[in-house]
Amino acid sequence: MKIKKAVIPAAGLGTRVLPATKAIPKEMFPIVDKPAIQYIVEEAAKSGIEDILIITSRGKSEMEDHFDRSPELEARLKEGGAGKRHMLEQVIDVTKLANITYVRQMEQKGLGHAVLQAKKFIGNEPFAVLYGDDVIIGEDPCIGQLIRAYEETGLCGAVGMKEVDPSEIRKYSSLKIDPVRDNIYKVTDMIEKPAEGEEFSYYSILGRCVLPAEIFDVLENTPYGAGNELQLTDAMKMLAKRDGFAGVDFTGTRYDMGNKLGILKASVEVGLEHPEIGSAFREYIKEIAKGL
Ligand code: UTP
Repeated sequence: MKIKKAVIPAAGLGTRVLPATKAIPKEMFPIVDKPAIQYIVEEAAKSGIEDILIITSRGKSEMEDHFDRSPELEARLKEGGAGKRHMLEQVIDVTKLANITYVRQMEQKGLGHAVLQAKKFIGNEPFAVLYGDDVIIGEDPCIGQLIRAYEETGLCGAVGMKEVDPSEIRKYSSLKIDPVRDNIYKVTDMIEKPAEGEEFSYYSILGRCVLPAEIFDVLENTPYGAGNELQLTDAMKMLAKRDGFAGVDFTGTRYDMGNKLGILKASVEVGLEHPEIGSAFREYIKEIAKGL
């Protein structure tokens, strides 16, 4: 079945980047001139996704405003004539990327609980999940790579994965994998935030997955796990052990926008490639580097 729907969980408290996230959602932090969530919606749209549900929460309505029309701004840019046409196009184009709807997660009980809010929207078809604070930039959109692997392998879902530094594995999940071909693996077990000695490998799920609708029933019967949160990994584990997931060691660079260093790396790397300010920024970085 073709994957046409995606869920973007973006309701988290963002405590790792306080105080910035007190009043601004981390998903709205800009990378040069676009908010993180726009990169993610663009990735989904490029991968054939038509309908997107953003899981939001109190104090995060800026995301809805960003994908909505902006009549006063558009009128002002129109008055500016040819000189402002490009800006006008950018402002309108963002409203046409996909059909976007929103639902609020009333309490932040974890990623699994956030995904559960999408049960009605998804119905009975497989769907994509793109974590709202994980921006992945590359030639071949990441979720498209997962969708292809899901279709090709016929496994029950797919996860985006990368090898993480062994010292970091306790913060992530750990996957049990067997090679299939090239960068595609079969995932047969997983554990969230493994204690010392519990890890299967240093491959972790990062930022993207494709899930069957059955995940909702599983989530509803999954006990709260690490951090007293409903962990998506705990629900996926059951399906991975029974049927197997495709694991895709995806191409593209991931920026964790829920982490201070990730935010800075994203700005520097995207800034260096930016058509408008890239060359001036490069000179600036070289100058700064001399003093390091
Ligand atoms: P994170 O665990 O990175 O987000 O979840 P968090 O809970 O905001 O992080 P910290 O630890 O407090 O800094 C990954 C994605 O899942 C969403 C987040 O918004 C983020 O985009 N999420 C997380 C929810 O939608 N609901 C939740 O209850 C938890």
